[in-house]
Amino acid sequence: MVAPWSSFRFQSGAIAKNRFVLAPMTTDASSPDGSVTPEELAYARRRCASGFGTAITACAYVHDDGRSWNGIGAARAEHVASLARLAREFQVAGGVAILQLYDGGRIARASLVGDDRLRAPSAIASLRPGALTPREMTVAELEHLIESFRTAARRAQDAGFDGIELHGANHYLMHQFFSPRANQRQDGWGGDLDRRMRFPLAVAEAVREGVGSTMVVGYRLTPFEAEPDGYGLDDAIVLADRLADLRIDYLHISLDDFRSQSPQREDRSYTVQSQPRGDGRSAITAIAEVVAGRCAVVACGGIRTEADAGLALAAGADLVAVGRAALVDPDWLVKVQTGDEAAIATQLPHDPRDIARERTIPPRMVDYLLGRPGWIPRQGSGS
Ligand SMILES: Cc1cc2nc3c(=O)[nH]c(=O)nc-3n(C[C@H](O)[C@H](O)[C@H](O)COP(=O)(O)O)c2cc1C
Repeated sequence: MVAPWSSFRFQSGAIAKNRFVLAPMTTDASSPDGSVTPEELAYARRRCASGFGTAITACAYVHDDGRSWNGIGAARAEHVASLARLAREFQVAGGVAILQLYDGGRIARASLVGDDRLRAPSAIASLRPGALTPREMTVAELEHLIESFRTAARRAQDAGFDGIELHGANHYLMHQFFSPRANQRQDGWGGDLDRRMRFPLAVAEAVREGVGSTMVVGYRLTPFEAEPDGYGLDDAIVLADRLADLRIDYLHISLDDFRSQSPQREDRSYTVQSQPRGDGRSAITAIAEVVAGRCAVVACGGIRTEADAGLALAAGADLVAVGRAALVDPDWLVKVQTGDEAAIATQLPHDPRDIARERTIPPRMVDYLLGRPGWIPRQGSGS
């Protein structure tokens, strides 16, 4: 069995000193121009200093009209200096630093991009409460966006990142192209499975071509949709197989909890757990089997202890990503490594000022975390 503290070599060459990955977590706390703030740098430094072998940033936008967050930008040449500051913090303890790239498509935030600028594979609103109907992207627009991903990946390289991760999960634009619910285009970019895979594969190919063979390229994937009319695991297996052919280093299987196989719901209900769909197969095992020898697999969702990590590795993952556990306790990995799991903080303090100060979380991120009750355990909240 793979030991969580053993090193791992990505096929493009980077070496992670252990199998633990800091999961991507947006702070919603960047400057309006997309540059990283001192609070975000402190947040990243403290978590990365705990020794993650690999660390993935919050999602960075590649195009202004795709912004879902007050997040970091990778959309313009001026963003490179800010990205370079972030890369240095992510590499503070020798970890492999990965910049996550995304576009929000129909879940871009209208208050950031403008009500009339929302665009998506098809003119269909997302299931999120109050969602506006986007307009259907033109072919010229989506081709331009593929180039935006390629150029953003090169900026990550110029900034000193060791790799990039394409955010194809959690209902963002690449996921939307893959989903039969969100993509009902009648042209060559929508319809059957082959056409729904075309945009994600085109982005992955452009990015790999843009950064060359020595930079890590990962792809984050929701392995099946929680919604009954969504895609299932068999479709995701085909996509995973095709991505592996494009020399992607790893596939990152995004689940809210890898044991219960619950993917993130599009309506963003944090208190209702999705029921697993399909035939009970483990998405990690099924995808690991199909890409074996070509591409690594990262598991994520609900990993809180070394034993959890061991279970995910035993299911077929090569690496395990940890989000909320390291958000709540920035010293999570140190405590796991020293066998002091009993000392891990599993709840945020009650007072927002204490959350920011004790846990090194940007105050604006604290506001957004507390705006979603039931998502992150907090003292005195019953969760
Ligand atoms: C505050 C917060 C922000 C997140 N932002 C991102 C993001 O930018 N990109 C992404 O792919 N996932 C994002 N996620 C999802 C996490 O990466 C992870 O998949 C999810 O929290 C489940 O893993 P966990 O149980 O270890 O937290 C975010 C999660 C949290 C809690």
